Amino acid sequence: MSAISDARVALVFGTDTGNTEDVGEKICEQFTGLGVAVEMVNIVDIDSQYFTNYDLILMGIPTWDFGGIQEDWEEREDIILDANLQGKQIALYGLGDQLGYGDYFLDAMGWLHERVLKVGAKMIGYWPTKGYDFEASLGCSEDKSYFFGLAIDEDQQFEQTDARVQAWVEQLTQEFEAAAAA
Ligand SMILES: Cc1cc2nc3c(=O)[nH]c(=O)nc-3n(C[C@H](O)[C@H](O)[C@H](O)COP(=O)(O)O)c2cc1C
Repeated sequence: MSAISDARVALVFGTDTGNTEDVGEKICEQFTGLGVAVEMVNIVDIDSQYFTNYDLILMGIPTWDFGGIQEDWEEREDIILDANLQGKQIALYGLGDQLGYGDYFLDAMGWLHERVLKVGAKMIGYWPTKGYDFEASLGCSEDKSYFFGLAIDEDQQFEQTDARVQAWVEQLTQEFEAAAAA
């Protein structure tokens, strides 16, 4: 199986005020346009066995309170640490506010990245930092050249969200198929 249209895709999100869910729905819509149905689920509703049935798993996480982890994700850290993601392709998206919290922009995405790597995930969907203005982030590479997943800022750059989601899903499709064929 190497075509995205044959892939079983899930999107797992956690949210405090709904933005990460809204963006998740936009991501799912883009996949639907490609003929791919995505199963969307809140992290509070799954256990670590959930991932077994999927080839590509998207995970969405917002950052709260000066670099804090969204609480449903934090409370369910074991779901990730107990999961076997070997052979799975994983892509993250993070929500944050680069102006209001520019020293902690998308930190929680870095937290999640560290954990999924520990349990064998193959990452796709890294995203350039060009076009964002922030001081520091644990959600990007040390040289600040790329984020560990799609960076969405509904507070400062909401007008860019749709185009970013569209470009990211196209990127994911290409990376998924290239990795699956390798
Ligand atoms: C009190 C408060 C603290 C926040 N802390 C951070 C932060 O440390 N880093 C960041 O990037 N964004 C921070 N944000 C921005 C949120 O992550 C952003 O609004 C996000 O869209 C919320 O997603 P949700 O609705 O899915 O919970 C904060 C927002 C508020 C109101």
